[in-house]
This record gives sequence, structure tokens and C-alpha cells, in this order.
Amino acid sequence: MKLSQRLLTIASFVKQNSFVADVGADHGLLSIYLIENCHAQKVFAVENKVGPLSILEKNTKNYPNITVSLSDGISQIPSDVNVVIIAGMGGILVSDILKKNQDKLENVQQIIVDAHRDQDLVRKTLIQLGYKIEQEKIVHEKVYYNVISFIKGRQGLTQNDIEFGYKIKSDPLFSEYKQSLLEHYKKIYQQNNSLELKEKIERLESL
Ligand SMILES: C[S@@+](CC[C@H](N)C(=O)[O-])C[C@H]1O[C@@H](n2cnc3c(N)ncnc32)[C@H](O)[C@@H]1O
Repeated sequence: MKLSQRLLTIASFVKQNSFVADVGADHGLLSIYLIENCHAQKVFAVENKVGPLSILEKNTKNYPNITVSLSDGISQIPSDVNVVIIAGMGGILVSDILKKNQDKLENVQQIIVDAHRDQDLVRKTLIQLGYKIEQEKIVHEKVYYNVISFIKGRQGLTQNDIEFGYKIKSDPLFSEYKQSLLEHYKKIYQQNNSLELKEKIERLESL
């Protein structure tokens, strides 16, 4: 099975022998990889749509340690899940999924997020929920992704950490990522001369 660099990075963040909830599991490739490579003892693979669910059920039918669930976000995850993965969704949806069922996070030691937009909102939400950033990594596959691992705890983050990424300057892809973000923000700024965006561009340029 060939996994994308993005999904491989997510898998590499999972601590050995975890019980993982893969929220928005879709085809189930990540869930299967986690079991086959001993990252997870058990996976609770969640889908909230019938179409992807039927593919997920078909792909995982020979894996007794993968339980498939037609449910919303983390609403039905078992109490012994200790790692939650939410990948391939926007940051607003990721935040809603976590905030809506916060009571389900009591035993969740690690949350791995790959949000395709609004990563700053994800960082803020997870901090409010009592997590801190353990590590994050930039992945480039046509576009840039930020894969972030949160663990329980507290930490002081700067505005730059929240907006652009924690210890982001030490990432090997930082300078190309920075250039691409700057181009993106400057394009938006040409249409919308907002002061907020101007200041964001200046903060990023100064990194
Ligand atoms: C773009 S796919 C990402 C699949 C995979 N996680 C990845 O990163 O490659 C997003 C998946 O999340 C599912 N999804 C969206 N909202 C969800 C929710 N609230 N609960 C469970 N699954 C959800 C969608 O049905 C879709 O299959």
C-alpha cells in the first residue's frame, strides 16, 4: 500500500500501540497502515457519510482491529481511545468536532491534526481544550500541509507560533513554505487592502 507523504507523516507522529480514532477515515488507508505497521493496536475509524463508509467497510473488512463507525466526529469514540487523528478537513470543522464533544477527550492524550485551512484556529482551539503543541511538520505535495501533534499540557505560544506554526523556522521546508504563504497573502492583499493582512505579511516577512 502506497501512502502519501502527508499520511505517512501523520502515522509517524502516532505513539506505538495506541488506540486511535481516525475521524474522517474515508478510504481507510491510514487506519490500515497504522495497524499493519504497529502504530496502533486498535483503530476506531469514523465516517459521517454513507458513500465513503461503504468503501471504508469494504477496505477494512479483513482487519479485526479496525472498527468502523457511521457517526459524527468524536461523538461515539470509545473511552479507551487515547489518540485522535483528524486529517483532510478545514480548521473550522476540526475545531467544531472537538469542541462539540469535549467530554470525549478525557482520556485522549494526543490529537494529530492536518487541517487544510485555518490552522491558526486549530492551534487556538486545542490550547483552549488543554493541549500543547508537541511537534509540527510542513509537508509539500503540490500544496503545503501543516501536520500538528498536540499532547495534554500547557505552553506559552507567541502570535507567530499560533499563526504560522510552532518552531516553524527550524523546519527544513520553512523558507519555501514562507515564500508560498507570502505570495498567497500578497495576492489577497491586492484585492483587499486590509490592515490586518498587511500586518500579518510584515510579521511573516520578519521571520
Ligand atoms: C477529504 S477527506 C480526508 C480523508 C483522510 N482523513 C485524509 O486525510 O486523507 C475528509 C473525510 O472526512 C469525512 N467527514 C467530514 N466531516 C466529518 C464528521 N463530522 N465526522 C466524521 N467524518 C467526517 C468526509 O466524509 C470525508 O470522507
